[in-house]
Amino acid sequence: MTLSTYHDVLQSLSEGSVTKHFDPYVDIDWDSPEFAVHSDDPRWIMPAEDPLGRHPWYKAQPVERQIAMGMWRQAGIAKVGIDFEQLLIRGLMQYLISVPNGDPEFRYATHEAAEECNHTMMFQEMINRIGYRDVVGMGTIDRKLTLAIWPAVKYFPELFFTMVLGGEEPIDHLQKSLLRGGVDMQPMVERVMQIHVAEEARHISFAHEYLKRNVPAMHPATRSVLSVAYPVVMRVMLSMIATPPKQFVDKFQIPAEVMREAYWGSPESRRIKRDVFTDVRALATDIGLMNPVAKLVWRALGIDGPAARYRSEPPRRAVA
Ligand SMILES: [Fe+2]
Ligand SMILES: [Fe+2]
Repeated sequence: MTLSTYHDVLQSLSEGSVTKHFDPYVDIDWDSPEFAVHSDDPRWIMPAEDPLGRHPWYKAQPVERQIAMGMWRQAGIAKVGIDFEQLLIRGLMQYLISVPNGDPEFRYATHEAAEECNHTMMFQEMINRIGYRDVVGMGTIDRKLTLAIWPAVKYFPELFFTMVLGGEEPIDHLQKSLLRGGVDMQPMVERVMQIHVAEEARHISFAHEYLKRNVPAMHPATRSVLSVAYPVVMRVMLSMIATPPKQFVDKFQIPAEVMREAYWGSPESRRIKRDVFTDVRALATDIGLMNPVAKLVWRALGIDGPAARYRSEPPRRAVA
């Protein structure tokens, strides 16, 4: 991709941020009666799209308990979302320090950071309204792992934007599959998801464009390192986002066996895990990161599979 094409893309993404953007306190009618949170509302029950939600152990729990777990889990996902958004905002600010005058990356990345600030407010408001005060986001080990982001921002920005994508794709994939699947969701959650998906589309485009512009021009040795780091980042970040924290497991006394099967022992959950990365596999192929060694790593991590033919293509199933 030429520099001027890249700059044109950034320009149109920036214009998109002006014409289609949301404010959590303007575009969400928090006090509307249909958004009210009720602890006997079966729409909080975790959907089959969730690896734990589809597990027979969960389905065998009394309805009130399924609802309570669903509420806590929904708030927990939003909390992890906040953790990631905040890391991204800080990383972007760090990255922008060295962007020169006149570079369109400055404007676009700042729009993106502003949108992510709105997402953190939107998620926190939703958590507050769900009402579980003990909800936590990322675990302690995960928090330590995220320290890898700081040297990457400065010395290995292609890795930083790979991490950005690793944070965005799993949440986006899950939210899109819920919205598409026509799951009967609690309306406040649904509204928050719609807004998030609408704005994330742009953010994910930017990460894709950045990598398309920069990865092919990398030194071959560094590119080989990235080709292996890329699936590892995806796999690690999927766990950070999709696996419920210890506090949740303890609170609802989920048997270890159930957790093992849901994340990612059973064939169904393994399929979900593979499907999350259809788009990122396509990108890796596109930008020259799918060499034989990288392919082995994708397979060893259980996230190999077909690449999407276009962005957000629904997962293809083998015809039986
Ligand atoms: Fe976001
Ligand atoms: Fe984002």
